[in-house]
Amino acid sequence: MCGIVAYIGNRQVYPILIKGLQRLEYRGYDSAGIAILNNSELAVYKRAGKVSELDDVLKGKHLKGNVGMGHTRWATHGEPNDTNAHPHFSESKNLAIIHNGIIENYASLKEELIKRGHIFRSDTDTEVLVNLIEDILQNANPDLDEAVRLALNEVVGAYAIVILSKNHPDKIIAARKGSPLVIGVGKDEYFVASDATPIIEYTNNVIYLNDMEMAIVGKGKLMVKTIQNQIKTPYIEELEMNLEQLEKGGYPHFMLKEIYEQPRSVWDSMRGRIDASKGFLRLGGIGDYENKFYNAKRIIIVACGTSWHAGLVAEYLFEELARIPVEVEYASEFRYRNPVVTEEDIVIAISQSGETADTLAAIDLAKSKGATIFGVCNVVGSSIPRATHAGSYTHAGPEIGVASTKAFTAQVAVLTLLALQLARKKGTVTESYFHSLLNELEQIPGKVEQALLTNDKVKSIAQKFIDVRNFLYLGRGYGFPVALEGALKLKEISYIHAEGYPAAEMKHGPIALIDEHMPVVVIANKNGSYEKVVSNIQEVKARKGIIIAIVTEGDTVVKGLADYVIEIPRTEDILVPIVSVIPLQLLAYHMAVMRGCNVDQPRNLAKSVTVE
Ligand code: G6P
Repeated sequence: MCGIVAYIGNRQVYPILIKGLQRLEYRGYDSAGIAILNNSELAVYKRAGKVSELDDVLKGKHLKGNVGMGHTRWATHGEPNDTNAHPHFSESKNLAIIHNGIIENYASLKEELIKRGHIFRSDTDTEVLVNLIEDILQNANPDLDEAVRLALNEVVGAYAIVILSKNHPDKIIAARKGSPLVIGVGKDEYFVASDATPIIEYTNNVIYLNDMEMAIVGKGKLMVKTIQNQIKTPYIEELEMNLEQLEKGGYPHFMLKEIYEQPRSVWDSMRGRIDASKGFLRLGGIGDYENKFYNAKRIIIVACGTSWHAGLVAEYLFEELARIPVEVEYASEFRYRNPVVTEEDIVIAISQSGETADTLAAIDLAKSKGATIFGVCNVVGSSIPRATHAGSYTHAGPEIGVASTKAFTAQVAVLTLLALQLARKKGTVTESYFHSLLNELEQIPGKVEQALLTNDKVKSIAQKFIDVRNFLYLGRGYGFPVALEGALKLKEISYIHAEGYPAAEMKHGPIALIDEHMPVVVIANKNGSYEKVVSNIQEVKARKGIIIAIVTEGDTVVKGLADYVIEIPRTEDILVPIVSVIPLQLLAYHMAVMRGCNVDQPRNLAKSVTVE
């Protein structure tokens, strides 16, 4: 969603802002803008559309200045047009603001400000905040930072903001609540951004601002305080990310690069955590909470999107291996339905970005009821790992393509390790099965590599279906969450309607859709429910549906029934999701490319959903 980049130092700010905004494009946006503060001139340039279009318009202008900020907007209040794009000036044009998040009480604040004679140019909640700050400055004449602080105390909702003032050409003010902000620390210079991607090129040293904190940043000067006016000592951390991870590395799209990174990213998620030759398995993140897990009567998993699908795989894993009952919840539903949560519950929050607003709110709710919260996140230092009691990073590396791929397989790998660790401790798996699973886990990166060899075949299949309007995905057992994930990938990036279903449920509804035009993707690996899936395939064929089957190499039965087969290596049942999802990611990717869709930044979607 919206992206923020800001800079104060001795470099020319324009290239930093444009490059920073380009690095933030992956989050999803519909308009972009910048503000540059040069002595006491404060200029704002913004427009609907891509950052490159903004750059095309501004390139010739030779914009000068060492202080500035840029924003990519994902529309919430008001349509995506030039006026609603950020930055927003205050009424006098003395102040400019950029904002991520939603000011929930904007309507009442706006009404009050209108009564006091203020005029608004846009439909945004953001313009209300900047005029509120200006109103406080005009009426009470405090310092700028004090005016910002007072205004933030009146705001209900979530925000990450940066403010520039014509009357303070040597400072920028930033603040956050519920929406992330990172400060990059260079030599006599500072960067502020919604995530580390625009900063990494310049410095590895960062400060993560906490909720309800504001930073007053000058050239070589930084002060952090809470919006309750308590001074804080900032803690500088070193980023592990490098620039290469943020580039496409020769691939046409980030998504394809990330699909192909999976042999490595799956391995990275297990590296140092398992050693089959020694029978070793240890997720260090559990720390002091292992006994809590051991005694847990129930695990509740909260997540959204693809991470929710990883949660569904985990439900099968924890129940089968560790014999702990699991409930998998959409974070957005869980947070609003007064769920029964007790101190004996373990809540696992799964999130690639670590910033998803609904998942964060679900964590807060479960915490307030005394549950122990365990995070499974990819982005180091993000909000969810900081809000949880314990957790394990997935170490998949930065994921830039909006449609999640390598984050999913890494999540499933980490959750498998977690389930297996608990199963061993509880004695719910035999030692020999435990060892064979560890061995197989070490083979999984190689099997993912083999699954990637299906690429040409998948591409040729994709070619046949680029004009269809609907797809059905079916699976049973561990194949069911994979079917959901395959369908989600396809709709996200190719805009083809796709539904995932448990194969046996097909006859309770979707079967009515099947005719000779309906492609049905079936996850039909050799596992416990293989025979039953074969029957489901026959039901589709009897109605002339077109079967695209993901099968275990060497399969002959499904081969005889299906119109297209994609063979993947044989693995343990519980590890099938990590391997079988690969051809489905490739299928969605090729369909989207052939249909001319923007694979990495699909319309209307955001990578990091920081509003509810
Ligand atoms: C957005 C992204 C999805 C992602 C979901 C949850 O919708 O487009 O790819 O699965 O958010 O995000 P999280 O960062 O919490 O995994």
